[in-house]
Amino acid sequence: MVSYGNGLLVLFLALVSPVCYSEKLTENSDELPSVTASGKSTHEESATCNADPKGKRWAVLIAGSREYSNYRHQADICHAYQLLRKGGLKEENIIVFMYDDIAYNPENPKKGIIINRPGGEDVYHGVPKDYTGKNATLHNLFTVLLNNKTGIRGGSGKALASGPNDHVFIYYTDHGAPGLVSFIDENLYAKDLIKVLKQMHQAKAYKSLVFYLEACESGSMFEGLLPSNINIYAMTASNKDESSYATYCPGEHPGPPAKYDTCLGDLFSVAWMEDCDLNDSSKETLQRQYEVAKKRTASNGDMSSHVMQYGNKKFCDESLCVYLGPKSAESYKSASSSPSNSLTQRDASLRHFIHKVNKAPEGSQEKVEAQKKLQEVLAHRQHVDSSINHIVTTIHGTEQVSEIMNSVRPSGLPLVDDWDCLKNFVTTYEKHCGPLSWYGKKYTRVMANMCNAGVKVEQMAVASTQACSSTA
Ligand SMILES: *[C@@H]1O[C@H](CO)[C@@H](O)[C@H](O)[C@H]1NC(C)=O
Ligand SMILES: *[C@@H]1O[C@H](CO)[C@@H](O)[C@H](O)[C@H]1NC(C)=O
Ligand SMILES: *[C@@H]1O[C@H](CO)[C@@H](O)[C@H](O)[C@H]1NC(C)=O
Repeated sequence: MVSYGNGLLVLFLALVSPVCYSEKLTENSDELPSVTASGKSTHEESATCNADPKGKRWAVLIAGSREYSNYRHQADICHAYQLLRKGGLKEENIIVFMYDDIAYNPENPKKGIIINRPGGEDVYHGVPKDYTGKNATLHNLFTVLLNNKTGIRGGSGKALASGPNDHVFIYYTDHGAPGLVSFIDENLYAKDLIKVLKQMHQAKAYKSLVFYLEACESGSMFEGLLPSNINIYAMTASNKDESSYATYCPGEHPGPPAKYDTCLGDLFSVAWMEDCDLNDSSKETLQRQYEVAKKRTASNGDMSSHVMQYGNKKFCDESLCVYLGPKSAESYKSASSSPSNSLTQRDASLRHFIHKVNKAPEGSQEKVEAQKKLQEVLAHRQHVDSSINHIVTTIHGTEQVSEIMNSVRPSGLPLVDDWDCLKNFVTTYEKHCGPLSWYGKKYTRVMANMCNAGVKVEQMAVASTQACSSTA
């Protein structure tokens, strides 16, 4: 019988560091004049919040994961919903995509309650079930964003019916990878997201649009792709090459209450939301929030990412309240925004399983099951690591493996030139070798490098068959 005590923790630590990020960018430390908040909000629509008196505020909130080990993404989204409601947005103008398997998950120690920080209040109450479970599909996300009511399948039928005077806020949080973010069991590729955003611009669906994105390699969704002339400003948790980080994780300080076994939030997400909790949104600008989020997200040594800005940065000087509404969130004033420890998103779920093994009583059925689950997760990682290595070696030969595995395109260039090639490679791999899952998706950069090197999908198919004929 293998013991999963300290030995595994060592293994875990070994897994943590090299997984998700590779390149450190130089800090741009342009200090902006700091804005001082009076501490009191006026609760009135001031001129700064009212960029267009004819305009309305809309929001689309998307948690792209499911399962208790990913608790944090849905917690982030629920928190954002509460912020927007406190800002005065109407429920009819907020559209929520989330799988909704957390609040009543058997593993949730407080049924019906979701928290986004240690000691935090419930953020689940009142969150509308617009597109939950099987209705949370990429198809519905696109039709909702394009306000195509007839195209929507299932769900509440709410669509983004915004117009040319309106301000739209989109917040997406999930696992990501170079060139894509997960969406439940599907992948949202950068190319397709950008296409929809351009269509929204053409349809005059907004005056300005702000997109906050938390995911590993989230910068790769916009880098070299988001034009600056379609009135969209995006802020991402990480640059195109690095992990983003989970926070309030078991074993960390501050960590979740004892029974939670899972991370409560993501570092970039709680950084911007706790900034909202603590500040008057009519006095905080988008730029100032970027500075705050960047500082907090970068303050954890190796476990840090670079918050990035893309698109039209002209409206960074606008008040947050243009998008989030003018009311400051009084009841969240107690939110501590203490420096938090973090874990790469890809390792946050692993921590959940390790924590369960360590906690279960010696000799219990619970321990056996937790060990089994952990072994599966580790075996899957091993399988993906070795099959990808096998494929790259087959196609490129031993001398070029390191180049293909590690090369990173310079800033300003999209991940891949031929997005269909990347999609086909992912599909081909999964057909022969099984699901990449959120861990294996880190290899989309390797696949992109193969596409950029001119590898054909037929070669990929042959190599995948070889690599996985005995293991899939
Ligand atoms: C709306 O969605 C449906 C289903 O995907 C599609 O067939 C139709 O062309 C779409 N309509 C518009 C106006 O885009
Ligand atoms: C999906 O949408 C349909 C139609 O609105 C609804 O009846 C059903 O309950 C929804 N399913 C889930 C899992 O939310
Ligand atoms: C806004 O909140 C942050 C915490 O995110 C805090 O450090 C900062 O002092 C606040 N800014 C103002 C202007 O009050």
